[in-house]
Amino acid sequence: MTFTAKPKDGAVWITGASEGIGKAVALQMADEGFDVYISARSKDKLEVIASSYRGKGNIFALPLDVTDRTANLKCVEHIVSKSNKLAVCILNAGTFKPMRGDNLSFENFDFTHSVNIDGVINGLVPVVDTMKEAGQGQIAIVSSVAGYGGLPKNGPYGLSKAGLINLAESLKYDFDKMNIKIQIVTPGFIDTPLTEKNDFPMPFLMPVDKAAQRVVKGLEKPNFEITFPRRFTYMLKFMNLWCYPVYFWMVRKITGG
Ligand SMILES: NC(=O)c1ccc[n+]([C@@H]2O[C@H](COP(=O)([O-])OP(=O)(O)OC[C@H]3O[C@@H](n4cnc5c(N)ncnc54)[C@H](OP(=O)(O)O)[C@@H]3O)[C@@H](O)[C@H]2O)c1
Repeated sequence: MTFTAKPKDGAVWITGASEGIGKAVALQMADEGFDVYISARSKDKLEVIASSYRGKGNIFALPLDVTDRTANLKCVEHIVSKSNKLAVCILNAGTFKPMRGDNLSFENFDFTHSVNIDGVINGLVPVVDTMKEAGQGQIAIVSSVAGYGGLPKNGPYGLSKAGLINLAESLKYDFDKMNIKIQIVTPGFIDTPLTEKNDFPMPFLMPVDKAAQRVVKGLEKPNFEITFPRRFTYMLKFMNLWCYPVYFWMVRKITGG
């Protein structure tokens, strides 16, 4: 039996929760009765979400830049000191900057890596320490379908998201023995501030509240992957089953290359 947290088991911590998917998931987890700690850099936005929430559970603002390793550790210590146990952690903070192959940029690689990879690792390590001590826990890492296979203009982002999928797969073997459920979240296009700046048609674009519902329901299931909208994400999975010439042909056809 894999561990599935109930509000009595402890608090929830969500990074990247000042807007978008993280904020929507926080509100829904609080409605399930959890104490939810929300982190991001925008202290003002977090405080507005926390103070205006009226529901079953509680929301607490916990400002954080995920690239700051010590600050992540302090957040985990704070949650444990206030709520006794951290039952669920959703490592969701992420960023996306497109990069063309004819315009490579160290700055883009470094920036994306620092938030999407280091930002996850910085939270993951102290979270696992405390869950190991508690003998149970649940961790969800938010990746993307861009991690399934290379997509145009996605170099730094795809690299980071593919890395997160591999990381979660790799950790699952030991985490299962430790009673820590690890899941990977692989959304397609979700209507959030992150995708607002996209200047191309986004197939099967999903409203953020619906995406959050999928995450919350997915957390209650034993499945390793939480993926949505499935019509789109399964299509991408299927494309990745083909040999490379066919894969590249299909991606070029769909995206215009
Ligand atoms: N939207 C999509 O279509 C889509 C698809 C696939 C995967 N995803 C993934 O889903 C996750 C959430 O995306 P979203 O669409 O909700 O993005 P979003 O609307 O841009 O929200 C991103 C969140 O991350 C926070 N954040 C960014 N840098 C941070 C840092 N250094 N430290 C702490 N928090 C930071 C932002 O808050 P502050 O700016 O206040 O720090 C914000 O709360 C990301 O990992 C993204 O890659 C999104």
